[in-house]
Amino acid sequence: MGLEITLDCSQVDWELVPQILKRVGMGYHEPDIHKKAFENSHTTVFVYRDGQLIGFGRAISDGAYQAAVYDIAVVPEFQGQGIGRTIMTTIQARLPQCNIILYASPGKEDFYRKLGWRKMKTGMALFKDPEQKAKKGFTE
Ligand SMILES: CC(C)(COP(=O)(O)OP(=O)(O)OC[C@H]1O[C@@H](n2cnc3c(N)ncnc32)[C@H](O)[C@@H]1OP(=O)(O)O)[C@@H](O)C(=O)NCCC(=O)NCCS
Repeated sequence: MGLEITLDCSQVDWELVPQILKRVGMGYHEPDIHKKAFENSHTTVFVYRDGQLIGFGRAISDGAYQAAVYDIAVVPEFQGQGIGRTIMTTIQARLPQCNIILYASPGKEDFYRKLGWRKMKTGMALFKDPEQKAKKGFTE
């Protein structure tokens, strides 16, 4: 069966999404919240190995000139094999006309740099939990 990359989120087991996000140390919610977020996104990417979900990512966009990337994750046992890069290049290819922004987890900046991303100097965020985001190293 091998590696399968799909943009279709109709077959996703939404229980797995928060499980994977939790495993990789990212923020997660109830499965239905992720279902809503992914289904309402411009582009979603899911990667399966032998039928098992091993990575995903998504971008929201106006479909014209602006987009933002969220929830990029690869399960630990499949990291370092080019899957994260594939998720990102698949998303980027679907948004060729857009400026795309994201906020990297602290320490992951070089993963994005290798894909041509640059650090923003004027990024601002109105986070739901600013103290927690500051503690985790996202803001000053
Ligand atoms: C970050 C993450 C998505 C990268 O996915 P991956 O499949 O392991 O990465 P890839 O194998 O596609 O790596 C692509 C390139 O980026 C590099 N890279 C990967 N993770 C990196 C990191 N944390 N720091 C620096 N470089 C990194 C790889 O060495 C590789 O470089 P190369 O092209 O010179 O060989 C994955 O490690 C992950 O899910 N981490 C935990 C969750 C997370 O932090 N997600 C990102 C939130 S912003």
